[in-house]
Amino acid sequence: MGQGNKTKSLSANSKQFSPLSRKGLVIAIDGPAASGKSTAARLLAKRLGYLYLDTGIMYRALTWKALRDKVDIKNSKALSELVKGTRISLKPKSDLNIQVYLDGKDITSFIRSPEVNKYVSLVSTAGGLRKVMVAQQREIARCGSLVAEGRDMGTVVFPRADVKIFLQASFEERAKRRWKENKERGLSLATEEVEAELANRDRIDSQRKTSPLRRAKGAIVIDNTHLDIPETVEKMWEVVGKKIKC
Ligand code: CDP
Repeated sequence: MGQGNKTKSLSANSKQFSPLSRKGLVIAIDGPAASGKSTAARLLAKRLGYLYLDTGIMYRALTWKALRDKVDIKNSKALSELVKGTRISLKPKSDLNIQVYLDGKDITSFIRSPEVNKYVSLVSTAGGLRKVMVAQQREIARCGSLVAEGRDMGTVVFPRADVKIFLQASFEERAKRRWKENKERGLSLATEEVEAELANRDRIDSQRKTSPLRRAKGAIVIDNTHLDIPETVEKMWEVVGKKIKC
């Protein structure tokens, strides 16, 4: 989230953003799971003083709710109904992490559980549910000055984004990163387990009918297999800089 907006919540229905204060670019970043998008995008937003929108969190929050309410996650209609009565709001914290509220309840600690990891890609295939999410994401972006990341930012949500970046890394490197992330969260999973989950997420995300993960037209590809996070942010910064000059 942008530095100047640290205490504000991102909620599609609220009127918290002054159009006068934010008139910058919309930067759309897409890429597969564990490509380092979230951390790099967040740091890029901080550097630009822009808002940061992690759309994966929104899909994770809905997945958590569907699991809690025992909604049949293969039933696209039931998921569309679920999303209609749901309020998601994202609140940036001073350490750049995001606090997630679902219907007023802080669910931040639940959205990266193994269960949510397992089902989030399946839930995210539901077209009706995506329609509602896309509308909310566009509403959040209405004043610009935004770094938005996910799977369909450049292709569907913001096809006219000022800057589009597709961030990728090798499967092996992404699996390594995800394993490490899990370990840091106290989850010691076998390498094979992590690889299987990642492969499954990749497959569903890129093969689904609605908004599959694709490099958007005009997107600059950054492969960060051999880059760390600061180097990745630097590359993104260069891409943004070139666009601004044009
Ligand atoms: O953090 P990680 O890369 O594991 O994933 P995420 O960005 O939190 O996204 C979780 C899942 O939500 C993805 O695997 C997609 O299935 C879904 N998603 C989506 O369909 N569209 C988006 N714009 C963002 C996420």
